[in-house]
Amino acid sequence: MDDPGDRTRTPMAAAPALGDLPSDVLRAELHRMADWAARYRESIEERLISPAVAPGEIRSALGASPPEEPEPLERIVADLDRVVMPGIVHWGHPAFLGYFGSTSNGPALLGEIAAAALNVSAMTWKTSPAATELETVVLEWIRQMVGLPAPFQGVVYDTASVAVVHALAVARERAGASVRQRGVAGRGDLPVCRVYASDQAHSSLEKAMILLGLGESNAVRVVTDAAFRMDAGALRSAIDADLREGMKPLAVVATAGTTSTASIDPVSEIAAVCRLHGAWLHVDAAYGGALGLLPERRGALAGIELADSVVVNPHKWLFVPLDFSALYMRRPEALRALFSLVPEYLRGDSDSGSIDYMDYGIQLGRRFRALKAWMVFRAFGRSGLAARIREQCRLAEWLAAQVETEPEFALCAPVTMAVVCFRYEPPGTEESARDGMNEAIVAAVNATGRAYLTHTRLRGRVVLRVGIGNLQTTEEHVARAWDLVRTAAADVRIEPAVRTPERGPRARDA
Ligand SMILES: Cc1ncc(COP(=O)(O)O)c(C=O)c1O
Repeated sequence: MDDPGDRTRTPMAAAPALGDLPSDVLRAELHRMADWAARYRESIEERLISPAVAPGEIRSALGASPPEEPEPLERIVADLDRVVMPGIVHWGHPAFLGYFGSTSNGPALLGEIAAAALNVSAMTWKTSPAATELETVVLEWIRQMVGLPAPFQGVVYDTASVAVVHALAVARERAGASVRQRGVAGRGDLPVCRVYASDQAHSSLEKAMILLGLGESNAVRVVTDAAFRMDAGALRSAIDADLREGMKPLAVVATAGTTSTASIDPVSEIAAVCRLHGAWLHVDAAYGGALGLLPERRGALAGIELADSVVVNPHKWLFVPLDFSALYMRRPEALRALFSLVPEYLRGDSDSGSIDYMDYGIQLGRRFRALKAWMVFRAFGRSGLAARIREQCRLAEWLAAQVETEPEFALCAPVTMAVVCFRYEPPGTEESARDGMNEAIVAAVNATGRAYLTHTRLRGRVVLRVGIGNLQTTEEHVARAWDLVRTAAADVRIEPAVRTPERGPRARDA
């Protein structure tokens, strides 16, 4: 079933040669698209989560050159159903348990429609006072919900990957490198700058190092303890070794909610090390920041208030759909000093005395992202958000308890949030064979289309990873995934050489 929409549409409604759709056509098409979206969401559970398409298949069914003449909307929407929908991985399916599943929802969808209709650019206060002030308000709400103290001020970017680039750029400037003015090329006065993160931290650190010209090899991975938390003693040793080599410890990235296991680094201890060496502390709370909404669990984030910068991704665990990432700076004026640049043609737009978000990053044009977040936060309320996060933690604990009752499976990491890592380890099998078995289980479960999970590697071993983030996910969906895992495991055990071909995208870093 590929068509959630209503096929009875105005025949041959097409955009006129000049201008836009007539308003009566637009209104009718908007209603139809609203029905399409509502039907999609109602029927999502009837769909297979991952598509059975081969690379290039969808592209070949689409036009290779742009259409010369206007096409009727009827035909375009029919192609959406016929060509595009069969190639969709249904991230919104409640049994989609891969990565950190960003979830859509009613209030967010309404916010996105309004933002698309408005299409304002929140680059300065004058270019969009309401988008700017709503962004400030929403950032303030997130700050309070997560539990960051008042000096922190935020800015919205698309992703945490972009946020860490900005944070490290400020760290470098604070270290006196004057890169804004002088750049890095041809300079002999710059030390080798090192940035430390745990062996579980996200790869966005290396990407930031590449982009900033700091060098991928200067991202130093520090070992973790049995619970996958950064070993602060090892951090101290790594810094001491680098100092002996004449290198500069520029920053440490501590993670609250790592990608594989959702472990939380000992941020207070790491902050003390940073203070000792004058290093910047960036806390990647892209996923784990949401834990701050639960008073009974907020203590796990202790120390994030000591950071210089913190990133929180509401598109991971605060029920705001992609994309929405909030970077908080203890001294926002440092971010502004680095990136504020007002060309003549924007001078008249930037003299309001109010905040202009274009000053806080490299992006000029900025979507009205705050609108969807504002609608979600108001429609669910802080208590509703907290209840959903709490329930997802409960579901993860429920799954972990099931795993623990199965002798052939082992839990591979403590369950701190809504992520469970576990492994099929049947007795009498070689460690080396188990990796293949666990990969085969992921492929077999995903090939059913009835649940979706990913794998990761912990201490070199392939493990199964379930992440619960969709607000429609219930115990029934998690139980279904668990049943499918056990069925796949039994098959893999009987026929270890037979691997079910993977149909969805390859499991990888979320
Ligand atoms: C801990 C952590 N930090 C950062 C990121 C990058 O997030 P984004 O996709 O917003 O760049 C991820 C992605 O999953 C992550 O797990």
